[in-house]
Amino acid sequence: MTSLQLFAERSATTYQPSSAVSSLYTSLLRSPAETAPDAVRGFLEQQLLVAKALPCNLPADLAQLPEWVAGNSQSVAERYAQYLQERHAGGGRRFFSNKAHALYFLQQVAPSKLVDGAWLYGTVKHADDWRYHGLIRTYLEELGDGEPALNHVLLYRNLLSEHDCAPNALLDEALYLQGTIQLALGHLSDEFLPEVLGYNLGYEQLPLHLLITAFELSELGIDPYYFTLHVTIDNASSGHAYKAVQAVMDLLPSDADRSDFLTRLRNGYLLNDLGTNSTEVIHAFDLEHEVVAMLEAKSTFGQHMHSDYCRLEGRTINDWLATPGQSRQLLGALENKGWIKRHQDPQDSRFWQLVDGPGAVMFGVFNGYELQLLKDWIAGDWQDNEPGRGANPFRARFRRRNSAMATQQPSQVATLPIEQLIALIAPDSHPTPEGLAATRAYARQLAQGGLTR
Ligand SMILES: [Fe+2]
Ligand SMILES: [Fe+2]
Repeated sequence: MTSLQLFAERSATTYQPSSAVSSLYTSLLRSPAETAPDAVRGFLEQQLLVAKALPCNLPADLAQLPEWVAGNSQSVAERYAQYLQERHAGGGRRFFSNKAHALYFLQQVAPSKLVDGAWLYGTVKHADDWRYHGLIRTYLEELGDGEPALNHVLLYRNLLSEHDCAPNALLDEALYLQGTIQLALGHLSDEFLPEVLGYNLGYEQLPLHLLITAFELSELGIDPYYFTLHVTIDNASSGHAYKAVQAVMDLLPSDADRSDFLTRLRNGYLLNDLGTNSTEVIHAFDLEHEVVAMLEAKSTFGQHMHSDYCRLEGRTINDWLATPGQSRQLLGALENKGWIKRHQDPQDSRFWQLVDGPGAVMFGVFNGYELQLLKDWIAGDWQDNEPGRGANPFRARFRRRNSAMATQQPSQVATLPIEQLIALIAPDSHPTPEGLAATRAYARQLAQGGLTR
C-alpha cells in the first residue's frame, strides 16, 4: 500500500473534516490552562487507537535499540549519498519543482515546525529526577538554550518572514495533526510518559527527506539552516536520537510492568506516522491550482479597487473579480491580451510589472509567496533556460552568519521561582524575550543542580 493510500484511509478514521484539530492546536498553544484535560486526553486516545493499527519497525527487544538507531542513520546516509551522486550526474531536483513549491512546503509544515520540541515540555517539571535529564536537555536544545539565533521555533518564524510566506489563512486540518499531538503530549506528559518516550524516539531519528530538503532549499536560494541544524543536533552517536534511546532505558519500569509500558511506547512511536508527512506535502503541490486558488481568495479584496477604464474581453476588472470562480478565465484573458507571456522571462509580462517592485502600481497586493507563485507560473518552461539557473547545485550559497549573541543582561527573570520559569518556557512563550531569558535561567540552574523546589 502506498503511503498516500494509507494516509487517505487513516484520515477517514482519524477525524471528521471539522475544525476540531486546529482549534485544539490553538487552544493548547495559546491557552493551555483553559484547555479541558479531558479533551486533550480524548484526542490522544483517539490518535493512539489509529496509530496502534499501523505496522511498526521498532525492534522487539529494546536491547537492540542502539543498533537499530545506528542502522537507520547508516541507511539514511547511504540513500543520501546516492541522491548526491544522481545530482552530480546532472539529475534534477527530487522534491521542489521551483521556488514557489519550496515556499509552499515551508508554509504547509509550519504548524508542526512552530511547536518544535513541544512534546517534551512536560519533562521540565522533573529537574530533580536525573532520569529525565536527557529529555530536558533535548527540550532546552530545541529552545536553543535561550539563545534567539538557535531557538528552533524562532528560526522557523524568521525563515517564514524572510520569504514572506507564513500562512495567512487556516491550512488544511490534517496539517495541524502532528503539531496538536506534540502539544498534547507535552501537556499531559506524566500521564502519557511511555507514549512521549516512544514519540520522541521516532521524531528524533534523522529522516532522508530532511537532508534532501536542505540541499534543494539552498539550491533555490532559501537558507536551509533550520534543516541543516537538525542534521547535526539529532545525530545518533551523541545527539537527540542517542538521548532518546537513553531516556527509554532510564525510565523503563521493573520487569513486572514492562510489557504494558512497551506496548504504549510503541503506539507513541507510531503517532509520528499520522497526519500528512513531509513527502505527502511535497507531492500535493500543483502550481496552477495554487495560483488559481490564491487569486480566487484575493479577488474578494480587490473587486472594488480597480478603475472601470480597465477592461478585459469587454468586462471591467471589477466585474471579473466580483464573480466567483473566474480566476482561471481571468488568467486566460490576461494571456490573450498579451499582458501575461507565459514560458518567458516574467519581466516581459506587463502584468508582472504591475505587481512586482516598489514602484509597481499593485505593489504590496501579493505577499512573497503569492508573488513567487505568479512568477513561477508565468516563467513556466523558461525557468530551466534562465541564465544562472541550472548552475551548479553544489555551490555553497549560505554561510553561517555569526549568530548574534543574546543580550545576556542581568534579568529579573533569573530570580523567578521555578514554577514561573517553567510557565515561561512553555511552547507558546519560550520564543518571547521573557521566555528566552527564562530558558537561560532554567538551563543555568539545571547545570548547577539548583532547580529543586
Ligand atoms: Fe528541532
Ligand atoms: Fe531534535
